[in-house]
Amino acid sequence: MPIVTSTEMFKKAYEGGYAIGAFNVNNMEIIQGITEAAAEVRSPLILQVSAGARKYAKHVYLMKLIEAAEQDTGLPICVHLDHGESFEICKSCIDGGFTSVMFDGSKYPFEENIRLTREVVEYAHDRGVVVEGELGKLAGIEDDVNVSDEDASFTRPEEVEEFVSRTGVDSLAIAIGTSHGAYKFKPGQKPRLRFDILEDIQKRLPGFPIVLHGASSVIPELVALINNYGGRMPDAVGIPEDMLRQAAKMAVCKINIDSDLRLAMTAGIREYLANNPAEFDPRKYLTQARDYIRTLVKNKLVNVLGSDGKA
Ligand code: G3H
Ligand code: 13P
Ligand code: ZN
Repeated sequence: MPIVTSTEMFKKAYEGGYAIGAFNVNNMEIIQGITEAAAEVRSPLILQVSAGARKYAKHVYLMKLIEAAEQDTGLPICVHLDHGESFEICKSCIDGGFTSVMFDGSKYPFEENIRLTREVVEYAHDRGVVVEGELGKLAGIEDDVNVSDEDASFTRPEEVEEFVSRTGVDSLAIAIGTSHGAYKFKPGQKPRLRFDILEDIQKRLPGFPIVLHGASSVIPELVALINNYGGRMPDAVGIPEDMLRQAAKMAVCKINIDSDLRLAMTAGIREYLANNPAEFDPRKYLTQARDYIRTLVKNKLVNVLGSDGKA
């Protein structure tokens, strides 16, 4: 199966009440850990690449590694640009073989967001590539964006129909209380998502795929492992798995996960090196990192997203 767009994946996910995992990739071990897990349980996948990942690993390396994973597993894999912030980066990814791009215009006023997103959609659709747009602002930190809690704002349901019809986007990322990174909630604050907003959006856009960013659960066992083996992470609380399951049963068809992968990788490396202090062969500790990613992703696919057996 060649690299595919997310169109078919989202259609089946919407109808089947499950979601596709969109996992951020930066290197070979991460790509292998994710795709090996998905191959074991026959799950479709979205592998997404941020501007930071392209800078770190170079576009061509990531593209070739993903193509290798597709050849190795035979899985339907969509290659997606995460948080594209300009027409130029979206164009470069489309020209370079990605099947999906996000144009993140969430920091712009409504009309400007529509105008800029529409430009990307026109270029992408002419080349068979799909586009994710965003309305509403998530709190948290990405490479070039640092949105404070005060500046974050939930998606306004009354804007979604106009945004989707005027831009022509294929999916829409919304803000309902998730945020990027490991520190999603203030200490003592209870995780809460605005399912009422999601429900309202779903009613206004029947059958239309919704995307949830900032959806790592910040797995406590991984944070504990990191801290047991020399880490100093402050207490961190993520999105509870039952909330993700609920979102996946609703209109959410794409659930973005990066921070949990980072935790798994770091926990694996820290534990291995602490237990084998004389070891200096990177293949040894990176094997453990890849194993931890495989285990994490398999659990997400089977127990949270429900996309196992759907490839
Ligand atoms: O939403 C952002 C992703 O976690 C990517 O993070 O920009 O540091 O690669 P990054
Ligand atoms: P997390 O930081 O919760 O993993 O979110 C990742 C994300 O939304 C990537 O776009
Ligand atoms: Zn994101």
